Amino acid sequence: MNKNDIFKIGIETWKVNPDEFEKDLEALNFSFELGQNYLPLSLLYNNGKVVEKMKDFIKMVGRENLFICANIERYVEKIEDVEEQLNKYLELLEIDYVDCFQIHTFAVCKIPMQEIYREIDRLAKLGKVKQIGVSNVNLAQLKGINNIVKIDFFEGVYNLDCKYYENEGLIDYCKENDILFTAYQPLRRNKIAQKNYAFLKELAEKYNKTQNQIMINWIVKEKNILPIIKSTNKDRIKENIQALDFEMEKDDYKKLNEFQNEKINSIEINWNDETGVTIDQLANQNEDGE
Ligand SMILES: NC(=O)c1ccc[n+]([C@@H]2O[C@H](COP(=O)([O-])OP(=O)(O)OC[C@H]3O[C@@H](n4cnc5c(N)ncnc54)[C@H](OP(=O)(O)O)[C@@H]3O)[C@@H](O)[C@H]2O)c1
Repeated sequence: MNKNDIFKIGIETWKVNPDEFEKDLEALNFSFELGQNYLPLSLLYNNGKVVEKMKDFIKMVGRENLFICANIERYVEKIEDVEEQLNKYLELLEIDYVDCFQIHTFAVCKIPMQEIYREIDRLAKLGKVKQIGVSNVNLAQLKGINNIVKIDFFEGVYNLDCKYYENEGLIDYCKENDILFTAYQPLRRNKIAQKNYAFLKELAEKYNKTQNQIMINWIVKEKNILPIIKSTNKDRIKENIQALDFEMEKDDYKKLNEFQNEKINSIEINWNDETGVTIDQLANQNEDGE
């Protein structure tokens, strides 16, 4: 499946409950029926049990109808571990290839990232990997990797409160280099809507939408970012998709573009195990000290 065939909002599989999978399978299928086809997977989720269960979903909807993005997890100690992890996804899911293969975070690597990406490139040439992604690295690291192999996808935190990657210039770099930025925690786990920013409330009233719908619409239509939203609630899945059926005025997108949560955006990011918070912890920071 090509980038252009990916639905504008991804399905998330974090928190899928392998012990009550029937219920989650129904929600996954509901998302799929509404068009959602981007499926990120991680062997970290419930010790690989989520991936194992996902085989049933893939069989149900047809492998070719999904864009499967698999994450390389801790720990890559030797280069063979990369192919071993890929093979584990292929075996557990009973598929022949993944659409995208990416390291989940730079912290997974005990060997240089460049070596890992040369190995992923080799696996891509074998046809086991169709496109190559990377997650949770900074702009300099992304450039370093993209100089070795063509990167197609970047997964990082992005929402109204957390604009680190935009402020750093990484989102512009993605646009210039035909890399699709996929945003995790796009709603900051519903925390932004709960804060009731006055301007966001006004926009929701003006367009007769929820605050979360305003943010999803802005991320997709103004930023050209693919948000991956976790929801297993059918009403909220529908609500999130209905965020795509309207346009806002230029000045309203501008308000969202210009908003900066200084307390969050000035947090120092820890890239070297020294100070600051790790990038994947950024959206969990509570600037109100609660
Ligand atoms: N690459 C990485 O390092 C990384 C790091 C963190 C997260 N992620 C991935 O990104 C995904 C998304 O992040 P996230 O789940 O933390 O944040 P999120 O998608 O911003 O928020 C999800 C939470 O918001 C609720 N929700 C969804 N739609 C809603 C709506 N319209 N109104 C109110 N509440 C709504 C969901 O609950 P209900 O299910 O009850 O609707 C869920 O509790 C995760 O599944 C995770 O796998 C990746």
